[in-house]
Amino acid sequence: MFKWNESFATGIKTIDSQHQRLFEIGEEIEVLLNTYLDQSTLHKTEELLHELRDYTIYHFNTEKELFHKFNYPDLDHHLSEHDKFVDYLNKVDMDDIKMDQEEFLNNLLRTVAQWIFKHINSEDFKYVPFLKDKIQ
Ligand SMILES: [Fe+2]
Repeated sequence: MFKWNESFATGIKTIDSQHQRLFEIGEEIEVLLNTYLDQSTLHKTEELLHELRDYTIYHFNTEKELFHKFNYPDLDHHLSEHDKFVDYLNKVDMDDIKMDQEEFLNNLLRTVAQWIFKHINSEDFKYVPFLKDKIQ
């Protein structure tokens, strides 16, 4: 699911390396979910989900700062997309994940993956022509 490839490249270094980190965390969760879930792998999964959420928020803040710094015109729309996703992540009770929730975890991960792919390819790519020259 979470494999970064060139089709996700914006050409903006900071953004691409943060996106790659998001994919890495997603892939780590995926690997764990494909192994036998016991108490310790479940605990690790929980930790990684927290990490994914925190890193997502950190990454969104980086984009937000760049938008403000360079007066990106479509910032309201973009930031509201981020807010919706953070709301979704916050609604998932990641401290109450149980061993029998493997299917739930798989669905969660699939939803997150699809959201990220779609967001990069539709929303993030919109700011590339605007920000690229200003940053590099
Ligand atoms: Fe974004």
